[in-house]
Amino acid sequence: MADNPVTEPRSRRRFSDATALAAALRPSYPVYCFRPHKVRAVARHFVETFPGKVVYAVKCNIEPRVLGWLAEAGVTAFDTASLTEIAAVRERLPDADALFMHPVKSRAAILAADRVYDVSTYCVDSMAELEKVLQVARRRDLKIFVRVATPGGGAAFELSIKFGATQAEAVEILDRVAEEGLQAGIAFHIGSQCLNPRAFRTAFAVIADVWRGTKADVREIDVGGGFPVAYAGQPVPPLEDFVTEIVEGRREAGIDEDVALLCEPGRALVADGCSMLCQVHLRKGDRLYLNDGVYGNLSEPYWSRVRLPARLIRPEGINGGVSDAPLQDFTIFGPTCDGNDLLPTPFRLPADVSEGDWIEVGQIGAYGAALATRFNGFFADAQVELADEPPDTA
Ligand SMILES: Cc1ncc(COP(=O)(O)O)c(C=O)c1O
Repeated sequence: MADNPVTEPRSRRRFSDATALAAALRPSYPVYCFRPHKVRAVARHFVETFPGKVVYAVKCNIEPRVLGWLAEAGVTAFDTASLTEIAAVRERLPDADALFMHPVKSRAAILAADRVYDVSTYCVDSMAELEKVLQVARRRDLKIFVRVATPGGGAAFELSIKFGATQAEAVEILDRVAEEGLQAGIAFHIGSQCLNPRAFRTAFAVIADVWRGTKADVREIDVGGGFPVAYAGQPVPPLEDFVTEIVEGRREAGIDEDVALLCEPGRALVADGCSMLCQVHLRKGDRLYLNDGVYGNLSEPYWSRVRLPARLIRPEGINGGVSDAPLQDFTIFGPTCDGNDLLPTPFRLPADVSEGDWIEVGQIGAYGAALATRFNGFFADAQVELADEPPDTA
């Protein structure tokens, strides 16, 4: 068995699929399995379908190679929330646009964004934040998006609880942006993993009053993220349906067609582009103890009850080779000593799954590594690239 790769350099090895990877490395540690072809294909479709600028939300997965594959597919702008994210974009893609879209920023972060990283686009949702940006940023070709709170309507993760100005506040802030002679935009976010395309039309109805009420010449509307991923057992409407609602929403709101659209997808661009190869370290009846879990890369099911696809990986010579045992549900525990390190939904796997087998867990490309902790000393560090299709979500 290979040792934990803490002492090894990050692997860039390529394999045809997870079985070839498991046969070659026999990893007792969890391994990120990137599929560059998948990231590129999904991003290309998004860029071709969305009638405006696609701005990738870096928070979702900051891996520099992911940023590179997105850029290869035509993504030229990146939504950043911190200096770390801005630096990641600037270092990997010096010519790309980095937008600083967190509505609450420290003065130090604004200072560095302005002086070091040459950022010109900021988002605010309060007058106090706008004044902070005006006081700290030196450049005067700023573009300011004002984020408006809108109802979630079907999102797994609500964001307007924390961010977003009321309509009246937004009008006041935009008027101040106009007074300063700066470029103005309106932003909203319907919440992450939104299954209801109509939520975009509803959001446009909310910002319509702001658009009409302000004296600012708003030239751009940022519709945020929220575009959903088809997790196991959760079919989602196609991207085209969301685009229809966005375009119709803009028309119904009376907003001119030449007002440009932006979107900030994270999850929808990268969830399918990475899976995790985990190993079974113990089986107790129908309970499996894996080397990754809720405190690692498998936290999304814990927060939002999404179901991740999983398949048994058993190369020849391991536990009797390929399994033809019937499928059954297994309860999944992660490696830490916390009782909460337990997935809320089971994995359906062959009944003979045993210690030493591997399980490939799909759709961890979004908010997987981003939310992983180092609790108990367990963390994933090894990366490979695979050439096949990811685990089936049916
Ligand atoms: C401002 C902003 N933009 C974009 C996103 C990405 O959202 P999603 O992953 O749902 O596309 C988020 C997620 O929290 C966000 O806060």
